[in-house]
Amino acid sequence: MTTSLLARPIEAYAEQFTTAESKVLAALNRETNLKRGDAIMLSGHLQGAVLTMLSNMIRPARVLEIGTFTGYSAICLAQGLQPDGLLHTLEIDEELHDIAAGYIEAAGLRDKIVQHTGIASEIIPQLNETFDLVFIDADKLNYELYYDLVFDKVRPGGFIIADNVLYDGEVVLPEGQQSKNARAINGYNQKIKSDKRVEHLLLPVRDGLMIVRKLVG
Ligand SMILES: C[S@@+](CC[C@H](N)C(=O)[O-])C[C@H]1O[C@@H](n2cnc3c(N)ncnc32)[C@H](O)[C@@H]1O
Repeated sequence: MTTSLLARPIEAYAEQFTTAESKVLAALNRETNLKRGDAIMLSGHLQGAVLTMLSNMIRPARVLEIGTFTGYSAICLAQGLQPDGLLHTLEIDEELHDIAAGYIEAAGLRDKIVQHTGIASEIIPQLNETFDLVFIDADKLNYELYYDLVFDKVRPGGFIIADNVLYDGEVVLPEGQQSKNARAINGYNQKIKSDKRVEHLLLPVRDGLMIVRKLVG
């Protein structure tokens, strides 16, 4: 499938007219790209700016991120936290902890971001928090599970944002030609569409962000 990651020249143009990456985020982006073959997973400049803008609009007291990777989106989302706010971020790969921690410290967010290492579906039930904003960005097969696990922990009027909901454009292929992950993402999108408890917007930025606002208590 041709990439749906927003056509590169358009993305470059959009980046030119978007607030520049901070020095810390630019360094994290560079190091991740230099050292990791899976750097495509990092949100990057444009999507990161979208997350920062949304977080600044929501002004959350509590944020949950599922899928820290090297910490880029956690640092973006933490920008909008209220003064006493906290962001919990979950990551299964313990080798990523220190790289994310270093950049979180460099961004001055050590007291704002709590890193949890382990299996997200096991950690989420242990979090005794009410979230204003949840960002789902881990293994695609479990997006529906994560939605169900977090739903009751999100306050009415709160937001659940999921990344990669276009799955590189595969979601529009006939089902037989979709990968397992793309089918799971399609299942997630269908689940949101039929959930009367929320309103939702599929924003075709980068690989697609599904933004859900919880309507009910
Ligand atoms: C797409 S990356 C996250 C990117 C990051 N949010 C960003 O924008 O920079 C997905 C991350 O989820 C982690 N992950 C995958 N399965 C997980 C699980 N079951 N529990 C916790 N983390 C998981 C992966 O190790 C990977 O680092």
